[in-house]
Amino acid sequence: MAFDSLLFRKVLGQFATGITIVTTTLPSGEPWAMTANSFTSISLDPPIVMVAVSHGLTTNEAIRRSGAFAVNILRADQIELSRRYSRRERPPDQFADLELRREVTGAPIIEGSLGWVDCRLTDLTEQGDHTVFFGTVQAIDLSDRLDDPLLYYNSTYVRIQPASSDTEDQDDAPTAKLLLVNSDSATS
Ligand SMILES: Cc1cc2nc3c(=O)[nH]c(=O)nc-3n(C[C@H](O)[C@H](O)[C@H](O)COP(=O)(O)O)c2cc1C
Repeated sequence: MAFDSLLFRKVLGQFATGITIVTTTLPSGEPWAMTANSFTSISLDPPIVMVAVSHGLTTNEAIRRSGAFAVNILRADQIELSRRYSRRERPPDQFADLELRREVTGAPIIEGSLGWVDCRLTDLTEQGDHTVFFGTVQAIDLSDRLDDPLLYYNSTYVRIQPASSDTEDQDDAPTAKLLLVNSDSATS
């Protein structure tokens, strides 16, 4: 059977994810950032997370060389950051409106994200057209303003909408449903 890559994307698109900005440092010392939804937690003890980064991206090379990355989890109202850091072309002032700070590893932390993890690169593996980077968490924190997260589902940005009050009384009813916020498509 020939492999159907469209079906592959459609099936995996049924798996709703959050959206993160993976940040790292360029050899010049400047910050770098990319939108990623391949982020997941792997281990609690020790705390390990992973992110898959396509071959040939600036981010891929920068994580290898700096040996560190941070993952910043986006709020629904930070959709503009997701758009900005998923473009290959970036304006010279791409971080001008952000407050960045460094914690343990030196990877930039985006002030105002829902939560972040600061990781030292401890392993990597090449899988198909991506590199899977494993990071051991060196520092972590949660925003003091917990909002609804930006989500990605079926190649579209979505957010959580509270369920209407008539479904809230049912024990087995979901407490929220997804609300379409636009029709952008992913590039990975
Ligand atoms: C919603 C969304 C999720 C994405 N997730 C990933 C991902 O997990 N891994 C990846 O390699 N690219 C992902 N991309 C594509 C990158 O963000 C895009 O290729 C970016 O330009 C890479 O930046 P760089 O080339 O400067 O490193 C995603 C894009 C979008 C819109």
